[in-house]
Amino acid sequence: MKKQIIKTADGSHSLFVPALNENYHSKHGAIAEAMHVFIKNGLQSHPKKKLNILEIGFGTGLNTLLTLEGAASKKVHYTTLEPFPIEREIYSKLNFQDFVKSDQSIFLRLHECDLEKDIKLKEYFTLCKKKK
Ligand SMILES: C[S@@+](CC[C@H](N)C(=O)[O-])C[C@H]1O[C@@H](n2cnc3c(N)ncnc32)[C@H](O)[C@@H]1O
Repeated sequence: MKKQIIKTADGSHSLFVPALNENYHSKHGAIAEAMHVFIKNGLQSHPKKKLNILEIGFGTGLNTLLTLEGAASKKVHYTTLEPFPIEREIYSKLNFQDFVKSDQSIFLRLHECDLEKDIKLKEYFTLCKKKK
């Protein structure tokens, strides 16, 4: 399905799927939404130091990237499923890197790492991507 990069109100990118007339994130701000829902009220508010997270829909990789960025005080095993991965042509143009500390290479690794394997990306963060 065709996807277009759009800019949301906080300047961060998201994807629009014309066939479904749907965005991947809030048009009011992809980063703002993900930070509010997944990081501040999810990851950071959870009392446990060791977390297993399951994400249904890796999509742009934004939640994964922000979790990796925000999880330093915890130990996270992050499993994410994505049956319809986006193409390099698209993910390489997403501007999430302008909003986080890590460099682009780690974001590309999130998209390009092997499937069905535990990949230790940081001392405290292990990723396992699955097609379904
Ligand atoms: C709203 S978007 C994802 C947002 C994503 N968390 C992000 O930050 O970009 C929903 C995602 O779910 C994926 N999806 C669709 N059907 C799915 C399924 N059966 N299992 C897992 N993911 C699915 C889509 O391909 C899409 O990437």
